[in-house]
Amino acid sequence: MTDNNRIPKHLAIILDGNGRWAKRRNLPRLMGHRAGLRKLEDMVRLVKREGIRYFSVYAFSTENWNRPIMEVTGLMRLFGYYLRRKVDEVKAEGARIRFCGRKDRLPEELLRQMQWAEDYTKDEKILDFILCINYGGRAEILDAVNSLIASNPQSPVTEDDLRKHFYLPDVPDPDLIIRTSGELRLSNFWLWESAYSEYYFTDIHWPDFDEAELKKALADYAGRERRYGGLKS
Ligand code: FPP
Repeated sequence: MTDNNRIPKHLAIILDGNGRWAKRRNLPRLMGHRAGLRKLEDMVRLVKREGIRYFSVYAFSTENWNRPIMEVTGLMRLFGYYLRRKVDEVKAEGARIRFCGRKDRLPEELLRQMQWAEDYTKDEKILDFILCINYGGRAEILDAVNSLIASNPQSPVTEDDLRKHFYLPDVPDPDLIIRTSGELRLSNFWLWESAYSEYYFTDIHWPDFDEAELKKALADYAGRERRYGGLKS
């Protein structure tokens, strides 16, 4: 645990830089994604040890379909491999696996594995590990609006009414969003939910992000004052 006990309840990470990590080593991009996956496996354990309750990662966005077909297929296979081989480890940590995003376009077999992993881990209560796959913040807001309209709500609708139609309405907004690999943007991640999130950017590529880097980010967060539009306390 970090010294300061102000830890985020919900930590979100934009896993960026797998490609650059691989390029620097003259490896194919998919090797970078594989290294990124190994790092993610470590991170679930570390995040749990820090006492974080919700951990979400941006693994595949609604825009990532625009990548070359080889890379998209490779990533889908990697997700499938993870669900076949690693879910027991996650469950043993007391973590519940959840998915966040649109279900369309994902391979049937992967969808079955996703459903299985969610059911298999659903009673774990120490950590919610949320994999955002085929996720886009704008898509989520649109889907929520359409679902809300279909429910024939009383006008005017409130923020809470809309929130009930988000993909994971029970998950609290991210307190801290980390983005690796030097880009300073949100890229359509948790658009609505990030209204008052704290951001932490690092130049480290995702496969090199380790325990020391996590501790640095958490210590930085612990020193921030969150005012939610109010005044200094
Ligand atoms: C962004 O790096 C990374 C991705 C689009 C994929 C992230 C996926 C993993 C780490 C594997 C996760 C596996 C599971 C099961 C969730 P990039 O390719 O955009 O890197 P670059 O900007 O350096 O090219």
